[in-house]
Amino acid sequence: MEKTLVLLKPCTLQRGLVGEVINRFEKRGLRLAGMKMMQLTDELLNEHYAHLREKPFFQILKDSMMCTPVIACCFEGIEAVRVVRAMAGSTNGRNALPGTIRGDYCMSNQQNIVHTSDSLENAEVELARFFRPEEIFDFESSNLKYLYASDEL
Ligand code: TYD
Repeated sequence: MEKTLVLLKPCTLQRGLVGEVINRFEKRGLRLAGMKMMQLTDELLNEHYAHLREKPFFQILKDSMMCTPVIACCFEGIEAVRVVRAMAGSTNGRNALPGTIRGDYCMSNQQNIVHTSDSLENAEVELARFFRPEEIFDFESSNLKYLYASDEL
């Protein structure tokens, strides 16, 4: 099964939406395999957002990610990377469809509630960036056979 990274951004902590957002992923049937609160650093964000370093908003993006701790989560499921990304919705909350997390909880291109990995390859790199191996737990979901058909597992 795939594992993917979700970061609950400082705006989510400030707005008291942590439980609601985690609840959505749990209710969908994704298994929470790791979770921690952490204060991000400039160094880590330079790596995490390296693809955006030439953008004019790079510094304010980094500042917005360091103003409080974030909550890093690892969710697992079949095709979890694609499913979680679809649940997050478009980057800009004003364009995100209702029913998506960003479409339901935000109005901003930057204060947009969550970060989600955009490919399986990046999910692996990002999970290794935010979690030590022993912080990801591979316990078995007791309801697996009610979440998926036997030929999907
Ligand atoms: P990006 O990786 O393009 O989007 P996503 O988070 O949907 O994978 O951008 C990373 C973050 O950069 C995004 O969540 C918010 C911020 N950002 C801005 O502040 N302004 C912008 O115009 C864009 C495109 C992104």
